Amino acid sequence: MTKGMITGGSRLLWWMGLVLAAAIMAALFLHHRSVDNRMLLMRVDPEAILDSDPARAVALADGARVYAAHCASCHGVDAKGSRERAVPDMTDDDFLYGSGKASEIEQIVLHGIRAGDTRGWDLAAMPNYARAVPYAREKLPPLTPAGLRDVVAFLRAANGNGGYERAAIERGRLLFMRDAGCYDCHSSDAQGDPSIGAPNLVDGKWLKGNGSEADIAYTLEHGLAGVSPAFARALSPYDARAVAVYVASLHPQTRAAP
Ligand code: HEC
Ligand code: HEC
Repeated sequence: MTKGMITGGSRLLWWMGLVLAAAIMAALFLHHRSVDNRMLLMRVDPEAILDSDPARAVALADGARVYAAHCASCHGVDAKGSRERAVPDMTDDDFLYGSGKASEIEQIVLHGIRAGDTRGWDLAAMPNYARAVPYAREKLPPLTPAGLRDVVAFLRAANGNGGYERAAIERGRLLFMRDAGCYDCHSSDAQGDPSIGAPNLVDGKWLKGNGSEADIAYTLEHGLAGVSPAFARALSPYDARAVAVYVASLHPQTRAAP
């Protein structure tokens, strides 16, 4: 071996070392920066994140990743849910709970809906009116097949569908407003109650099916109690916040970047 070859080899090694060191420094710097960003997102109000760049961009990128891994299987890759499986559309401005704020969604992500978590939502479910005892938590009478048809006629007419007998609609209205107790959860204007997750029944938007006679009758005869899992154990607080901000960003009012 000559002296020149040794020098050439060590110079190459020296350069390689330098490049490697620079790469490690750059990676550490970037990592540190994103960790910093994440800490920052935990300190601010989740609503504020949507209004401030670059916080919004960081949260949306991380949130989209969490969404794909943990939510898309039920809510759909496009977040439009499934009316067959009664999974709500999260891209419209119709909310089962609250008004679609990031903080409200974060609460749902952490503690779920009917997920057995005492801090989650579980204030009411849709009774099964075909059972002798429709609902365990409140005394309600079952509906007879004729009564059920009348309630369906009332709701169909209230959604602008013609072809129902006036008397049937009136009998259905009385069941809704009085005897069957529907008003108690869905309110007496049938516009629902977002504090207990009772959907609006006159907005033409349906959680289960598409508001046909058969779909409404199915819900009345089977009840409905959708479950969104609690992720407080499965996700870090940051990931839960990021996915909540991501889902909030899908709503029409917040979709545009600041
Ligand atoms: C196992 C299926 C499933 C998974 C996984 C799931 N959800 Fe849900 N989610 C549901 C169902 C079903 C409902 C409707 C609950 C109801 O009817 O009250 C729901 C409701 C919601 C709502 C309320 C929507 C509204 O209109 O008020 C939000 C917000 C939500 N989920 C967010 C998420 C997020 C974010 C994730 C992922 C971290 C997630 N869900 C994972 C099934 C799921
Ligand atoms: C104890 C409260 C309660 C009562 C009483 C009640 N509901 Fe409901 N109802 C709910 C809840 C909560 C949901 C949503 C369930 C879910 O999200 O999984 C619902 C869902 C529905 C749906 C499905 C809506 C959609 O968008 O697909 C229909 C239809 C409905 N209810 C009609 C009625 C009628 C008619 C009555 C009376 C005969 C009635 N409900 C009584 C709580 C109630």
